[in-house]
Amino acid sequence: MNIIFMGPPGAGKGTQAERIVSEFKIPHISTGDAFRAAMKQGTAMGVKAKEYVDQGLLVPDDITIGIVKERLQEADCASGFLLDGFPRTLEQAAALDDILTGMERKLDHVINLRVDRDLLLARLTGRRICKSCGATYHVIFNPPHREHLCDKCSGELYQRSDDTEEKVGTRLDEYINKTAPLLAYYEQKHLLREVNGEQEIDAVTSEINSVLRGQA
Ligand code: AP5
Ligand code: MG
Ligand code: ZN
Repeated sequence: MNIIFMGPPGAGKGTQAERIVSEFKIPHISTGDAFRAAMKQGTAMGVKAKEYVDQGLLVPDDITIGIVKERLQEADCASGFLLDGFPRTLEQAAALDDILTGMERKLDHVINLRVDRDLLLARLTGRRICKSCGATYHVIFNPPHREHLCDKCSGELYQRSDDTEEKVGTRLDEYINKTAPLLAYYEQKHLLREVNGEQEIDAVTSEINSVLRGQA
């Protein structure tokens, strides 16, 4: 199963991806996670990406497309993949089409998680992430059992540097200007399915599951 999760910052792509990949046994490919890992390690790509990520701007297409192209050729993608946060521009979408054609593969589903702007702001400013395993929490909507500590691995929780009100504003503008046009692109290809991302986390997961299993 070859899947894309789309949706604005804070829509729940990462939260839902964690659940769906464990059920379908496919790798979770998040370009945002890849950039944050490279930034932490201080690689040349990470240093370049940081200039953009820290400002809430999209990283240039050539860097982003290169990462995904390499990742999709790894062995664990043979049974499928879940792309989270890629593509985000029409150029990236066209490049993905070419990459998949070259591999004689095609997309099965593009799922758009729909969430209103006010709710996105609340979700992002309250988000906390585990330093050790990357699990995602929310101080109000999905709190850990022990404050500041991960339920799964007891790792320490931190706040992403781009989850401030100001940076979230820039990220939402980037989404509207550059990424939202992709919805029409996938609609024309009859791949796009809308899911109401404003429901509780479990309800969103079951709606996505129904779409992926062809029951909705
Ligand atoms: P990326 O890491 O992809 O960030 P994003 O798209 O802004 O999305 P988020 O990860 O912020 O949100 P999410 O939808 O995953 O929500 P989550 O599940 O965590 O990208 C970061 C940066 O990298 C970009 O700004 C850009 O610079 C660069 N980049 C990445 N990809 C790129 C690309 N393709 N091209 C160019 N640049 C790129 O949930 C959010 C919060 O809400 C959590 O606290 C969660 O617990 C809570 N929550 C989730 N679901 C629910 C629910 N149903 N009810 C209540 N709370 C919920
Ligand atoms: Mg995410
Ligand atoms: Zn953890």
